[in-house]
Amino acid sequence: MTDAVPGEVLVMGAGTVGFFIGGSLAAAGVPVTFVGRPRVLRGLAQQGLALSDLEGAAHRLPAQALRLSESVPAGAKPSLVLLAVKSGATAEAAAALAAVLPPDTPVLSLQNGISNSSVATTAGPGLKVLPGMVPYNIAEIGPGAFHRGTAGRLAAQDDPALRPWLPVFARAGVPLELHADLLPMQWGKLLLNLNNPVNALSGLPLRAQLMQRGYRRCFAALIDEALGVLSRAGITPAQVAAVPASTLPKILRLPDWLFRIVAARMLKIDAQARSSMADDLALGRRTEIDAFCGEVVRLARQHGMTAPRNGAMVALLMADAPARLSPEALSVALGI
Ligand SMILES: NC(=O)c1ccc[n+]([C@@H]2O[C@H](COP(=O)([O-])OP(=O)(O)OC[C@H]3O[C@@H](n4cnc5c(N)ncnc54)[C@H](OP(=O)(O)O)[C@@H]3O)[C@@H](O)[C@H]2O)c1
Repeated sequence: MTDAVPGEVLVMGAGTVGFFIGGSLAAAGVPVTFVGRPRVLRGLAQQGLALSDLEGAAHRLPAQALRLSESVPAGAKPSLVLLAVKSGATAEAAAALAAVLPPDTPVLSLQNGISNSSVATTAGPGLKVLPGMVPYNIAEIGPGAFHRGTAGRLAAQDDPALRPWLPVFARAGVPLELHADLLPMQWGKLLLNLNNPVNALSGLPLRAQLMQRGYRRCFAALIDEALGVLSRAGITPAQVAAVPASTLPKILRLPDWLFRIVAARMLKIDAQARSSMADDLALGRRTEIDAFCGEVVRLARQHGMTAPRNGAMVALLMADAPARLSPEALSVALGI
């Protein structure tokens, strides 16, 4: 450990995000413990960890260099925890952390959605939970191999506990920016995540789904509804994509031939890439729909409004066995 490293890191929820961010820090010399499921850790214990990104960086961490654990190790005193479970697992993970870690341990939530840090604070009293935002897409491209496929900088709520880590994250190739108020960044990202349920219900890879105007119109309608709710709530979402959120629906509604030209950058996606919600649906797992469309519905309610399209999306994804829907059928289901 070099002098510049403020301490140890514990990744809670070793998966796509946890292995990529935690692995990047480990490759930069930070002592990192990965807490994850036995089925996941077994693979890593055999083949080690491989990290890559679209700018061409690549790291390999041999299996013997990885500290893997099936639970939060007794007596652990990490200087920073990275919370990287999916939203539905937040409360349980926070309770497990609080049961072992010293009070006031900083926990940076790297999760999508808006409420994970408050859920973790409630379930893990004593933890100092800080919201974060991962703007880019990370995918497991092979056993133990994780790839960052889009650009961007990590963001987090400003806090003295995070400041000493900034040079370390930068050196590790995962630069972190601190914001006095993270909420606009979180909502900016959430608006982009509204395509995840559209993608999941299409049954198509992302690129093929985005090339169909009917599906893009559904995505645009969900964004428009969310923007109306945000406006009433006095929240201006930050720009997380190449274009401002307010412009995105107009671009999404363009005819296919024009969209292909205007959104060339957005369409630079691996032909097989799917949203992780599509993977969750395919595997019969709980999705994060409540943390995406569900947040729009809740914010609308808080401000005396309704968000029927996002509400319909929640209902579709919460169904016992959600059916794949054509663009026309999805438009009808969303009332477009
Ligand atoms: N992947 C991306 O590109 C990306 C980008 C930005 C943000 N995010 C967000 O980051 C969060 C994590 O996503 P992900 O794709 O990294 O999820 P993931 O690959 O499913 O990784 C999470 C891992 O944590 C495990 N886990 C859950 N509860 C645990 C516990 N109590 N103890 C130990 N392990 C536990 C999960 O196991 P089980 O499956 O058994 O629960 C899973 O293996 C989500 O909120 C997601 O929306 C993802």
